[in-house]
Amino acid sequence: MAMSGQNLSFGVLLLPGFQWLDAAEPVDYINNHSQAMLQANNLPKEDVEKGPIITWHYISFDLKPVRATSGPTLNPSTTYTDCPPLNYLLVPGGDPNAPLPPGCAEFLKERFEGLKGLLTVCTGSLSVAQTGLLDGYKVCTNKVALKAAHSSGQLNKNVHWVGDRRWILDRKVWSSAGVTAGIDLGAEFARVNFDPMLVELTKMIAEYKPKPDQPDEFAYILDGIDYNN
Ligand SMILES: *[C@@H]1O[C@H](CO)[C@@H](O)[C@H](O)[C@H]1NC(C)=O
Repeated sequence: MAMSGQNLSFGVLLLPGFQWLDAAEPVDYINNHSQAMLQANNLPKEDVEKGPIITWHYISFDLKPVRATSGPTLNPSTTYTDCPPLNYLLVPGGDPNAPLPPGCAEFLKERFEGLKGLLTVCTGSLSVAQTGLLDGYKVCTNKVALKAAHSSGQLNKNVHWVGDRRWILDRKVWSSAGVTAGIDLGAEFARVNFDPMLVELTKMIAEYKPKPDQPDEFAYILDGIDYNN
């Protein structure tokens, strides 16, 4: 299963007002398994070749910089219409109640079938759920936002929301709970897909021990809330 030497085309959907950390964590963590990063770290050639070759595409409706909630802007590298073929698409959290930007739902619907995986962090899943693509899937999201959407009646009840895990994989949908769970999702994606030696090396470089899906010490946020009904 290790994607050694494979070319991976990875998209990152930049929703207006995205959370910097939601995007940065899994992107940096996954990217640290790539040949480019391994080379930069002066690893021997035979080890570098164990990594995938990752191309990142930052996607928006146009090429204007997209501002994160904390201020920094990110320059999209492509648009919904021009985006090259993708193997994976990552959706960091934005404002879950904001309607998707024009063309975004169409882009997601067009691309979903061809993806090997869709990854969502935090409220990213609530945004994608607006399209109906997650209907019938087991999906994690930010628990505080899930609670708010449930009480305001804005929650898509066709999705099977999961409130007691940091992340979950259902078929090809990888979703994580609030903000920091995104790095654990990235680490799980790496564990499943990349060379085990590189997975260990990346943990050491990041000085991070990825958390499992359960126990989820924040599950209490949804105690007593019947969010799937
Ligand atoms: C990725 O690797 C670089 C170079 O070793 C390191 O500086 C950086 O902190 C790593 N990033 C993550 C998220 O592990």
